[in-house]
Amino acid sequence: MRLNIRDATRRDLPQILTIERLGFAHPWSLESFIRELSLPFSRTIVASIKTASGEALAGYLCRWLVADECHVLNVAVHPELRRIGVGERLMSDAITEAKAKDAHLVTLEVRRSNLPARGLYRKLNFEERRLRHNYYGPGEDAIVMELRLG
Ligand SMILES: CC(C)(COP(=O)(O)OP(=O)(O)OC[C@H]1O[C@@H](n2cnc3c(N)ncnc32)[C@H](O)[C@@H]1OP(=O)(O)O)[C@@H](O)C(=O)NCCC(=O)NCCS
Repeated sequence: MRLNIRDATRRDLPQILTIERLGFAHPWSLESFIRELSLPFSRTIVASIKTASGEALAGYLCRWLVADECHVLNVAVHPELRRIGVGERLMSDAITEAKAKDAHLVTLEVRRSNLPARGLYRKLNFEERRLRHNYYGPGEDAIVMELRLG
């Protein structure tokens, strides 16, 4: 499947919110995404596919780039388009951009129970560095994962 990766715009927010709500028990609000689009160090990218009527979003990723660190805040793929490489493509593009901008580290937090996401990050050579106990609520630990660049 041919994916187009580009920067998100406000017009993408309805589709982004749909994917967000399908992907997370505690989804980001519309206001959160609007705020990210306005921050100079934040970037949201989308993966889109061509459809008969135009374009549909398959997934998105939001990252911060501060000093020499890229932090991935959010990544999700539409449930009907999972397991065909969309998440990997979004992550790979974020990593390539971070390298091009001389970042030395990509970081993120993931729920310990989120085996698909942990599998994706491990495939891209992220290392599980430490645990934040109850980070997402009682019994919901976060694993801090890091990828060293260069
Ligand atoms: C995590 C997520 C983004 C993965 O997206 P995806 O497009 O389905 O992932 P890909 O098809 O690119 O998979 C790449 C690799 O990730 C791993 N992976 C993906 N889904 C997996 C699953 N269900 N079980 C185990 N490993 C999985 C595999 O290593 C896979 O490589 P392979 O297909 O060669 O085995 C997607 O499941 C999702 O949107 N989940 C809900 C939102 C979420 O949890 N986001 C992450 C928050 S930290």
